[in-house]
Amino acid sequence: MNVVVTEDLTKIYNAGMKKGGITALDGLSLAIGQPEIFGLLGPNGAGKTTLLKVLLGITRISAGSATIVGLPPDNPASRRKVGYLPENHRFPPHLSGLGLLEFTGRLYGLRRNVIDSRAGSLLDMVDMDKWANTKITKYSKGMQQRIGLAQAMMSDPEILFLDEPTDGVDPVGKTEIRKVLQKIRDEGKSILLNSHLLSEVESVADRVGILSRGKLIKTGSVDELTSRESQFEIEAEFGNKLFEIPAEVGKKISLSMNRLIVELKDEKQVNWIIDHLRLKKINIRAVKPIKISLEQSFIETVTEREVDQS
Ligand SMILES: Nc1ncnc2c1ncn2[C@@H]1O[C@H](COP(=O)(O)OP(=O)(O)O)[C@@H](O)[C@H]1O
Ligand SMILES: [Mg+2]
Repeated sequence: MNVVVTEDLTKIYNAGMKKGGITALDGLSLAIGQPEIFGLLGPNGAGKTTLLKVLLGITRISAGSATIVGLPPDNPASRRKVGYLPENHRFPPHLSGLGLLEFTGRLYGLRRNVIDSRAGSLLDMVDMDKWANTKITKYSKGMQQRIGLAQAMMSDPEILFLDEPTDGVDPVGKTEIRKVLQKIRDEGKSILLNSHLLSEVESVADRVGILSRGKLIKTGSVDELTSRESQFEIEAEFGNKLFEIPAEVGKKISLSMNRLIVELKDEKQVNWIIDHLRLKKINIRAVKPIKISLEQSFIETVTEREVDQS
């Protein structure tokens, strides 16, 4: 089941203006399943926040369509299924963590006993039970984000929209947030995570979409976006034994004392390499596919695109 579906979703701000407005989303088609953490990655200005605003019905769609659990964003019932943690939010400073959750529960019109039990289990989930009665202003940035995640979960949503949730959070705090996100996913919920930080998305997302100038230019699992299936690194005791790789198998990229990098015509050809090395009595220590970082994949994707367009 898909919790969010968009088809050719387009958002043009100030479309009526003389210059034709600003195209923030440009024919975006996307489906987010359940449960999954979908990381939407893109530089500032790519359109990430606009997507959330459109899905939440805060700003209107210019063309195309969107649904949340089957309902269009202009149907208020669609919002009942969504939890939202905005970018640079500020909670009422006089509240404690528990106070914030109770306040949120009352806004949703939940019953007292539901508020109490949900607040209790969410404080536990985000590991903030010890700080429940401390004022939010005393919290670190990471703690504020964790209590923010708990408040976004108070309505028991099907999907959470998180806009740059680890901005300004220190590395330890980031790891803690990541653990909470995984717990939420393990409870069967989905998360749409907006971030301009590659490492962030790479470490937690099941699937990643790369957004550039309002266009979704690539989607896939982190593995799919970062593996180079045809390149392998082979660690072995080559010594001074020379050997050639036939052109139909592939080509040698580099060979040092005990490290060979090959680019193969087909990944099955790795068997040819292994058989050949064993035949030559070369002791093999490891064979591994070469991965590129998501950052490199992102840069290559954007660069390819710029080349394509010229
Ligand atoms: N309310 C608005 N009015 C006009 N233009 C806007 C508005 N909000 C965002 N934009 C423009 O839309 C583009 C996408 O912005 P945004 O969705 O905030 O990107 P991101 O969240 O990826 O940084 C940018 O060019 C931004 O300047
Ligand atoms: Mg943004």
